[in-house]
Amino acid sequence: MSSRRILATLDRAELARLRERYPHRPNARKINAYEDAAYWIDINVERAQDLWLDRAPPLRVLDLGCGAGYFLYVCRFFGHEGLGFDTDEEPLFRGTTELLNVQRVIARIEPRVPLPDLEEKFDLITAHRVCFHRISRAENGEWVEWTPADWKFFINDVRTRFMKRDGRLLLEFHPRRDGNSFFTNQLCACFLSEGARIFRSKALLSADPTRRPRFKEVKK
Ligand SMILES: C[S@@+](CC[C@H](N)C(=O)[O-])C[C@H]1O[C@@H](n2cnc3c(N)ncnc32)[C@H](O)[C@@H]1O
Repeated sequence: MSSRRILATLDRAELARLRERYPHRPNARKINAYEDAAYWIDINVERAQDLWLDRAPPLRVLDLGCGAGYFLYVCRFFGHEGLGFDTDEEPLFRGTTELLNVQRVIARIEPRVPLPDLEEKFDLITAHRVCFHRISRAENGEWVEWTPADWKFFINDVRTRFMKRDGRLLLEFHPRRDGNSFFTNQLCACFLSEGARIFRSKALLSADPTRRPRFKEVKK
């Protein structure tokens, strides 16, 4: 399934109308042009391929901070069904998830607070361009963010309550403002101690902390 064929299924006129209804904030970055379906479908096909979703058996996917809903939309073309999870602060995302028919749970991820019960477990849990670990801005403009202990709480909660036995958790991070990786030495050590495989901006974790997960995984 190519990006072009997926793109052809989208109502781009309606996406443009949604953007007119909910205009960009002043100074919004190009990366936030969520009405640019061609750009976002390409990125999400790549994300799916990185996890071998184009050759895996049907999976149940939970996408944390699902945003506009493109990842779950793309997953469907590879045979996977999913559920989004997000706050409801961005009216554009309300519109795009409805348009893309992406179902989502509205809730906020908070440090050291268990996620709400979703009454099911998933084969794959994803969070792309994670923001939920950012608590506030410090005076110097840097983010005050989750500590390693906050991450351990979150990973343990997700592992024990939402992941199937062979499940995987994929977290992808923005680079830092200075261009450095999200994974400082301290955070790198924290994720590795949880059994993560770290590759560039991504950390992948298995349900079982003693099992090193693989990006290229096809078995269910
Ligand atoms: C940078 S956007 C990424 C959207 C999408 N995952 C993507 O890669 O295109 C971050 C997303 O996380 C959501 N988010 C931010 N803080 C959150 C929190 N505390 N709990 C749940 N979702 C949150 C935002 O609403 C937004 O949809």
